[in-house]
Amino acid sequence: MDPYLLGLRLEGRRVVVVGGGGVASRRVPALLDAGADVLLVSPKVTASLEDLAAAGRIGWAARGYQDGDCAGAWLVSACTDDPAVNAAVAAAAEAQRTWCVRADDAGASAAWTPASGRAGDVRVGVLSVNPEGGDPRHSAAIRDAVVAGVQSGQLSARHGRGHHAGVAIIGGGPGDPGLITVRGRQLLAEADVVLTDRLAPRSLLDELRDDVQIIDAGKIPYGRAMAQEHINAALISHAQAGRFVARLKGGDPFVFGRGAEEVLACLRAGVPVTVVPGVTSAVGVPASAWVPVTHRGVAQEFHVVSVHVSPGDERSTVNWGLLGGSSGTLVLLMAVERIGAVADELLRYGRSPDTPVSVIADGTLPTQRTINSTLEQVERLVAEEGIRPPAIVVVGDVVNVAVEITELMRDVTAWRTG
Ligand SMILES: C[S@@+](CC[C@H](N)C(=O)[O-])C[C@H]1O[C@@H](n2cnc3c(N)ncnc32)[C@H](O)[C@@H]1O
Repeated sequence: MDPYLLGLRLEGRRVVVVGGGGVASRRVPALLDAGADVLLVSPKVTASLEDLAAAGRIGWAARGYQDGDCAGAWLVSACTDDPAVNAAVAAAAEAQRTWCVRADDAGASAAWTPASGRAGDVRVGVLSVNPEGGDPRHSAAIRDAVVAGVQSGQLSARHGRGHHAGVAIIGGGPGDPGLITVRGRQLLAEADVVLTDRLAPRSLLDELRDDVQIIDAGKIPYGRAMAQEHINAALISHAQAGRFVARLKGGDPFVFGRGAEEVLACLRAGVPVTVVPGVTSAVGVPASAWVPVTHRGVAQEFHVVSVHVSPGDERSTVNWGLLGGSSGTLVLLMAVERIGAVADELLRYGRSPDTPVSVIADGTLPTQRTINSTLEQVERLVAEEGIRPPAIVVVGDVVNVAVEITELMRDVTAWRTG
């Protein structure tokens, strides 16, 4: 017979898990997410389960299974590595008419755990059915396909359910479409209107349904300040007309992204708004070139600076003296055109001319380029190599760590292919 699929609402209900190994470590967090009152019975447990017990999130009987342990349970999970113990647990559960999942023998198990996942407000559970009790890998693969389809919007039942309202300000990450968050991608897939920026991961737009209106905010004229007013007005008017608006931005909306200005404008107009954080280019782009912004014994701090105006410009509020005097990593955005002035300022305030500098353009994209230099040489090299924005400039000894990683990577690749 096919199993009967059910969603168990476990909040406040006792679930007994017998066994403290890898299977229990996977099951218990999901049970806790469902609000279950978990009692773990096992003489030994994994470190993660021990942490949960120490934090008081589960009860732990630190001993072997005993008759009576299943009393009062709504659900039992038998996941020791001893089939005889699992059989005894299952028999006790059966006798008291409690559902029991046996990890070691699906055929002898009264209930099966589906491969499950979440996509927005949808919970997906998949069981593949055969007389031996299914094929977990097949179930997991189908689950992944369904979850990915819903997240990307390729599988959708938009008109059959409640519709989002207002505006979602979504951090799209530095450019690689794989670096947007799961939530960002879900909300994007549900939008009626998408306002996108020049540095947002535009390849995601190809996946949207044909009826989605896409507005390229990078093409709104009137100069920087006026353009922002027009973007705010567009967000508000579409949302007030009942459309769900996704504002897709590069990196993180709140890191030199004017995201908070858009939030304020929406709220002042009475439009509900949500923000989805993103992977900022300030950290993600260096990582894509193997540059860690901190490294033990090398850099204990990092500073993220917008160089949209030069040092010395009356609009600059950056304390270049402090940055020149520190030994922390400097991550400079919008700095390519002003790199000479920045280098001069840092040298003036005490950084060594040999300080390593990495310039990473088009980070995380197929066109990514990296040049490594020093504070003294970087302006010349940027000009010679024709480096153009968008680029991140990293100043500090962490650049040497990237050089070491890159060399080791080359050796490993040569070893694997040789
Ligand atoms: C207006 S700021 C926006 C920053 C964004 N909110 C974030 O969190 O990444 C634009 C600057 O971010 C940097 N940037 C953004 N994406 C980049 C990428 N893919 N590669 C290199 N730099 C990037 C460049 O310095 C660019 O001039």
